[in-house]
Amino acid sequence: MIVFLCLSSFVIYVTWAAFQGKNYAYGPYLSPLYSPELFGDSPHRWLGPKPGGWPSFLPWSPALLILWAPGLFRLTCYYYRGAYYKAFLVSPAACSVSEGRRRYTGERAFPLVLQNVHRYLMYIALIFLVILAHDVWTAMWFTDTRTGSSSFGIGVGTMVLAANVVFLAGYTFGCHSLRHWVGGIKDRLSGSPVQRQIYRCAGCFNRRHMLWAWMSLFWVAFTDIYVRLCATGVWRDWRII
Ligand code: FES
Repeated sequence: MIVFLCLSSFVIYVTWAAFQGKNYAYGPYLSPLYSPELFGDSPHRWLGPKPGGWPSFLPWSPALLILWAPGLFRLTCYYYRGAYYKAFLVSPAACSVSEGRRRYTGERAFPLVLQNVHRYLMYIALIFLVILAHDVWTAMWFTDTRTGSSSFGIGVGTMVLAANVVFLAGYTFGCHSLRHWVGGIKDRLSGSPVQRQIYRCAGCFNRRHMLWAWMSLFWVAFTDIYVRLCATGVWRDWRII
């Protein structure tokens, strides 16, 4: 029930936030739900304003162009699969509870066999990590509205964005697919000390994968809330440096 409520709340909030299309940037801060901002109106955009060919029946929001990648990465995560199969589908109900259905194909048949795309989404998630880390760097440069010059600084928002990258990195580095990729694919690692060490590191994160999954889930939503509330003037961002 807790998994059901938390995941449902997250999906509802993120869907709402993704369709807003505004208040996703504040000064040097950019909400992680909108990063990278390929097209948009904020100074963080990469390519330009809303593309001309955007279908008129679809509401416009920069998040709709990119959010599918981290969304599908999380949806197909081995941990979340186990969690939401039990919480949403009650199939299987629990590890030692037998299936009500006579034929249980697990993830060997369509549509659940598509979950295997997770290993490819993992590569995209690594690229997103680099982009979000760059956003933290950008969040350290504040523009003086009077002179137009930018100077180094750290605000509470910078720390919020940085913590988001730390939690997402802890989650991604413990990914089962990544662990397989960096070493698990081999039968013997004793002849490759560097690879063995990387594999062990991935194993450390992997042992707490559930914890990283929940921390990063909560924090990515909170980071969006923080930027959004600063942008709408509800919260004030404090400068530490
Ligand atoms: Fe959870 Fe890959 S298994 S992120």
